[in-house]
Amino acid sequence: MSDAASCRLCFEVLTLFPDAIEGFVSAGLLGKAIEQGRVRVCCTDFRDFTHDRHRTVDDAPFGGGAGMVIKPDPVVEAMEQVERERGPFHRILLTPSAPRFDQRVAARLAALPRVGLLCGRYEGIDDRVREHYVDECLSLGDFVLGGGEVAALVIIEAISRLVEGVVGNPESVDADSFGREGELQLLEHPHYTRPARFRGHEVPPVLLGGDHGAIAAWRREAALRRTWALRPELRPTRRLAADHPVLLAVSPEARPEAAALAELVREQGVELAVVGAEAEALPAWLEATAGRIKLAVIADARALRRRLRRASAGAEPRLARVVEPTDDALAGAPSRADRPEILLDLLVGGDGEAPLGPLVLWLGPGDPPSGLPVHAIYAPRADDLTRRGLAKADAIDDSSRPRSRMAALAEAALTGLRDRE
Ligand SMILES: C[S@@+](CC[C@H](N)C(=O)[O-])C[C@H]1O[C@@H](n2cnc3c(N)ncnc32)[C@H](O)[C@@H]1O
Repeated sequence: MSDAASCRLCFEVLTLFPDAIEGFVSAGLLGKAIEQGRVRVCCTDFRDFTHDRHRTVDDAPFGGGAGMVIKPDPVVEAMEQVERERGPFHRILLTPSAPRFDQRVAARLAALPRVGLLCGRYEGIDDRVREHYVDECLSLGDFVLGGGEVAALVIIEAISRLVEGVVGNPESVDADSFGREGELQLLEHPHYTRPARFRGHEVPPVLLGGDHGAIAAWRREAALRRTWALRPELRPTRRLAADHPVLLAVSPEARPEAAALAELVREQGVELAVVGAEAEALPAWLEATAGRIKLAVIADARALRRRLRRASAGAEPRLARVVEPTDDALAGAPSRADRPEILLDLLVGGDGEAPLGPLVLWLGPGDPPSGLPVHAIYAPRADDLTRRGLAKADAIDDSSRPRSRMAALAEAALTGLRDRE
């Protein structure tokens, strides 16, 4: 269908319906790529490799049963003839009984010079072709099509978009859903265009503000949220290493929680930091724990920042507020996570690859001192607390005993961030 000279990738489609392929590939970006000679699509009809008057390609299945099966000889002869004429290709059989085609497979195949797609019909192709004559089998998904042609077209289009020059702006390919290689395979963030207000529906204000850093951060978070909600199996499975520096930070008003917090800090092997104006007086109320836990008394936000920078070896320290699951005042807050693993995704900076510095979980009560930027908010789901057996902490609320609600929330965050569940 085009000159092979400058062609980066050539598809050989073996089918009983070449017209179905040729009609589709000549349209749109793919048609243009073929015209420009970047991609080539050649079709071969199995029927041209039959040797009887009726050009028979199928026969009844051995062992009986419904339907017909494509004979192996026209398929194998067709592949051999194509290879003699145009050179060998990576042979792919399209069948529902196969691993699924996805963006990673597309990226792998886009690096090859020649890809062959075998399209079945009826009950499929005689299985000896799968067993002895192909390099791999691919399925489009857990459903059954009438033939392999639509599957071949999907695969051709997905791979061709990854061939240099086919899509005008390569950045748009990288930003697409599943576009990134490596650990993260996210669904794409939402897109909006003019008008900014459509029948009363607004677009997210951050997109109109012109702050590119804020827009990038919003898009990343929106992509993560969408992926968590719609395709949780794609979400990154990162956890904090057991020795990752974590500071549970409280204000002096956390005094009634001292014993429970101290116990948690000891159990979890993290450090407790008391940050605030009355810091100097604090060891008194924590003196029972002195020497048994890692305890830092920090005067203010500046002192905490200095300390974190010293411990961070260049990686950005991150601060998350931990709040009650019922704290509705924070319902609309940005970067709000209801699961620890989501909190971790939100805290990992920029493109998701940057190393994470020391983590501060601000337990309160109240806001962290001004000058400490909050990167995300963790408000655990009530069922998460129950699952961890922590909801009972609700009940411990009489003033004669230290309340342990704060410790329960911190424990939910810590165990989720560091456990593998
Ligand atoms: C009707 S299907 C045969 C289905 C086969 N009997 C089975 O149950 O697995 C005919 C042809 O359509 C193609 N096909 C159907 N579903 C497909 C899918 N999910 N992915 C890739 N190809 C598919 C294959 O080439 C297959 O040989």
